[in-house]
Amino acid sequence: MVLGLDIDPAKVAALNSGRSYIKHISSEAILEAINADKFVATADFSRIKEVEAVIICVPTPLNKNREPDISFILDTGKSIAPHLTKGTLVVLESTTYPGTTDEDLREVLEAGSGMKAGTDFHLAFSPEREDPGNAQSKVEVIPKVIGGYTPMCLERAKAVYGRAIKTLVPVSSCRAAEATKLLENIFRSVNIALVNELKLVYGAMGIDIWEVIQAAKTKPFGFMAFSPGPGLGGHCIPIDPFYLTWKAREYGQHTRFIELAGEINTAMPKYVVNRTAEALNALRKPMNGSRVLVLGLAYKPNVDDDRESPSYVLMDLLKAQGSDVAYYDPYVPVIRLTREHPHWAGTHSVSWDRASLQSFDVVVIATNHQAIHYQELAEWASCIVDTRNAMAGVSTKPRQVWKA
Ligand SMILES: NC(=O)c1ccc[n+]([C@@H]2O[C@H](COP(=O)([O-])OP(=O)(O)OC[C@H]3O[C@@H](n4cnc5c(N)ncnc54)[C@H](O)[C@@H]3O)[C@@H](O)[C@H]2O)c1
Repeated sequence: MVLGLDIDPAKVAALNSGRSYIKHISSEAILEAINADKFVATADFSRIKEVEAVIICVPTPLNKNREPDISFILDTGKSIAPHLTKGTLVVLESTTYPGTTDEDLREVLEAGSGMKAGTDFHLAFSPEREDPGNAQSKVEVIPKVIGGYTPMCLERAKAVYGRAIKTLVPVSSCRAAEATKLLENIFRSVNIALVNELKLVYGAMGIDIWEVIQAAKTKPFGFMAFSPGPGLGGHCIPIDPFYLTWKAREYGQHTRFIELAGEINTAMPKYVVNRTAEALNALRKPMNGSRVLVLGLAYKPNVDDDRESPSYVLMDLLKAQGSDVAYYDPYVPVIRLTREHPHWAGTHSVSWDRASLQSFDVVVIATNHQAIHYQELAEWASCIVDTRNAMAGVSTKPRQVWKA
């Protein structure tokens, strides 16, 4: 039996009525688990005393100074602690800097429960690994890295996860497990920055980066393909590396790769806006007053997750140039209120039809959802700026598509 604990009453109510609020998790799966008495959601922390293991997966954002904000972890720890019973296992899954579990979380759990980690209760870190939007990727077959506060903590965590996950990867400590997750995300951030930089360099030489990546991908060893784009998005890659940057300072260490990758990736939306201006210029149109459609609001294809999406940055920059900006996304019909871009809240996706698409001076493809009919786009839009190579293989008119 799994108890799903959340402080958001709307999510608790949705789940208990068998309704999923995440596109790639079906409502049927939730309902089936509820009906089989395998799952129930609650906002009542006192129910912690009923469980043998608590898995914490709360947000780990950056604050306005781009420093780690682990307040969600600490608040959760404070809420859990008074209800902890002897022998309970607590596992943190949120991405964070090394030391969060065995220093920060341990302290609040011990202070609030009056018990000792490693002797009275067990403590571990195991990073969440998920590939939203990839239907082939199932949680049970993704190997799970686990680090325990003590060898016994590790054994307890292995016993819990071993019931659901095929391959467990034990490491020597919570810190090693925390560092593993950061390596995985930094690896992506740095490699995406590399192809983003090469996109500009090769572009200036008249070489198409997408063609080059396709060719390089044929190498059967020593190469892994990454795709350029309009900037980094999602709740992980643009954020997590800076957790390490912050912690490294405590040790007098600098994370130059992370900083450089961040610099290159955050410059991408400006490059896309410049290319949009070039495309409009070729049509003798100014940015100011032009109608621009941003296609795709989700940060990656085929998902409805718009957190940290570079589409918002593009929309802000285009608007700042005086453009009349709208968006289309089949998975985000209306923009929710977010901390970062509250001014777009309540904006609706435009409709997908000839008249709607023809009313724009330029369409900027920010996310390449498979559900978008790119041939119709080619027929209806006069000018397209493509940041994802989405128009490859679609028949288009000369000078209609500008890669960016
Ligand atoms: N979603 C993913 O694909 C993914 C993949 C790898 C790692 N992660 C990491 O997992 C963590 C959580 O990410 P997410 O996408 O699930 O975040 P999220 O924003 O969906 O938040 C998860 C839930 O935590 C709840 N919450 C906030 N404070 C709480 C508290 N004090 N007590 C109980 N519940 C609380 C929120 O209401 C929300 O429903 C982050 O550290 C993220 O980096 C996520």
